[in-house]
Amino acid sequence: SDQSAFDTDVWTLTRFVIETGRQAKGATGELTQLINAMLTAIKAISSAVRKAGLAHLQGMAGAVNVTGDDVKKLDVLSNDLVINMLQASYSTCCMVSEENKELIITPKDKRGKYVVCFDPLDGSSNIDCLASIGTIFAIYKRESEGEPTEKDALQQGNNIVCAGYALYGSATLVALSTGTGLNFFMLDPAIGEFILTERNVKIKPKGKIYSLNEGYAKYFHPSINNYLKHKKYPEDGSSPYGARYVGSMVSDVHRTIAYGGIFMYPANEKSPKGKLRLLYECNPIAFLIEQAGGMATTGTQRVLDVQPEALHQRVPFVVGSPDDVNEYLSFVQKYP
Ligand code: AHG
Ligand code: MN
Ligand code: MN
Ligand code: MN
Repeated sequence: SDQSAFDTDVWTLTRFVIETGRQAKGATGELTQLINAMLTAIKAISSAVRKAGLAHLQGMAGAVNVTGDDVKKLDVLSNDLVINMLQASYSTCCMVSEENKELIITPKDKRGKYVVCFDPLDGSSNIDCLASIGTIFAIYKRESEGEPTEKDALQQGNNIVCAGYALYGSATLVALSTGTGLNFFMLDPAIGEFILTERNVKIKPKGKIYSLNEGYAKYFHPSINNYLKHKKYPEDGSSPYGARYVGSMVSDVHRTIAYGGIFMYPANEKSPKGKLRLLYECNPIAFLIEQAGGMATTGTQRVLDVQPEALHQRVPFVVGSPDDVNEYLSFVQKYP
């Protein structure tokens, strides 16, 4: 292709989704519309995140959400953007958001065949200190007819047709998969398009970084503290791991995919199921990590096999390079 700086045959995410959509049998273009609507919301959130300090969008919205989190102004704005853009795409029948206690049922005249579970702004405790934050989503096809109910959203992660995350970091990136590999796209603000930068990304079999909030060590199960001890004081002559923790899962997970290693949000005495929510944090990330050849476990089962029972249920969450996750699981066996 020509060597000019300006790529005249650029692969935008829109073009990529159309190509993928057309390959899907019986494609109606509805999933393409849905993904494009999500991308519009993500571009708007990216712009709001980068203006937050200037547009008085930092700080609290003055509410607490169903999972007990303080709601930030940017949480609310991001949530409204996603709901409005997705409902306007005529492709959803219902949605689940971290910021809405109840199922969000799409108005009858705007309904389509997809269910979307999303975290509009992940890592919002990091907004006011300008650390990276993200958006996470998982898309399912509804299996029922008629009036949407919670059951439409309580599907196993194995049923995901498309999932992705946006990372509002030093650049705005979207990681996306429709089940045939994980792809990275970077936002080019000059043209407002996400450009394909890496196709079929694969995670390293083993990394050198562990990532979790060790502030809860006092409350961890022995299998965790014994695993960490092995990472810090390896008895087999291997070198100790490095430690990295942003406290924004999208940031910590993206680094884990890019560099290899393990990310953990384990159960602890204070939160016996951990903190991360299955439908809109753990399932989408588990799907993406597995597409990259990684592993995602609750410690007792594969995340995507969990049968959800409640919209905001939490699960313990350990993901990353397969050798690292399997080594962690060997400590779960050793210290039941
Ligand atoms: P959210 O901001 O969407 O509520 O999610 C925050 C989550 C996740 O991003 C991160 O891994 C975790 O909270 C950090 O929790 P701790 O501060 O307890 O480590
Ligand atoms: Mn929250
Ligand atoms: Mn989150
Ligand atoms: Mn959130």
